[in-house]
Amino acid sequence: MKDRITINHILKYKQDGKKIAALTAYDCFMAKFLDRAGIDLILVGDSLNMVIYGEETTLTVDMQQMIYHTTAVARGVKHAFLVADMPFMSYQASVADAVSNAGKLIRAGAQAVKIEGGEAYIPHIKAILDAGIPVMGHLGMTPQSVNLFGGYKLVGKDIDEAELLKKAAQKLEETGIFSLVLEKVPSGVAADISQSLAIPTIGIGAGVDCDGQILVVNDLLGLFDEFKPKFVRRYARLYEDIEKNVKEYVDDVKNGHFPNLNESYK
Ligand code: KIV
Repeated sequence: MKDRITINHILKYKQDGKKIAALTAYDCFMAKFLDRAGIDLILVGDSLNMVIYGEETTLTVDMQQMIYHTTAVARGVKHAFLVADMPFMSYQASVADAVSNAGKLIRAGAQAVKIEGGEAYIPHIKAILDAGIPVMGHLGMTPQSVNLFGGYKLVGKDIDEAELLKKAAQKLEETGIFSLVLEKVPSGVAADISQSLAIPTIGIGAGVDCDGQILVVNDLLGLFDEFKPKFVRRYARLYEDIEKNVKEYVDDVKNGHFPNLNESYK
């Protein structure tokens, strides 16, 4: 069995020019499959509110749910580096909330936490780091601020916005984050930010020049029929397989073809 990936491996990937492959996971068995397939980093994303619980945004997921799913994922991971998202309002209101909630996610089995937002959260990030917890940043389109953005928009389209983004990234790096998610950012802007930082950037809808890539695993596997943003590559269309297999099962039960003798006790 390969050793557990640590923060030092994640930093070294960038120094060695190796890309980081990251995905989200929300339960133990998916985490096990991703781990066996050689994924470097697993994120228990607050996207679980949308892809598991069917909500419209990430805004209503709470700490209890994040702890529950982080515990499940941690049971399935032996190799990958495990990061858990700090959900909306688990850190925004105070530095004390931020440290205490980050600690709960570490106790649930995460090795680091991810926080959305820029300079406003430097005191929170500093305090979490002081507690011995690594922090991943998240800039660009940050879904917890969807109401402020007025939608899930591309961020960094003009020079001023791109400059602000780069400055925020540099400030977060100075504060001590070990990596930075860049979401829905023009590829040239993400490339420039990635070059300017010593820590790795992990892109989602941020082009090929980030130091790593992350996707929501349900999007990659095609678990939805309608939802497919431009930046998602579907490697499977599981929603089709699921519908087809369940239809076959329904037919088999209705026609008396399931269970057969081998599937029954004598
Ligand atoms: O919650 C999530 O899945 C994320 C990724 C999109 C990076 O934050």
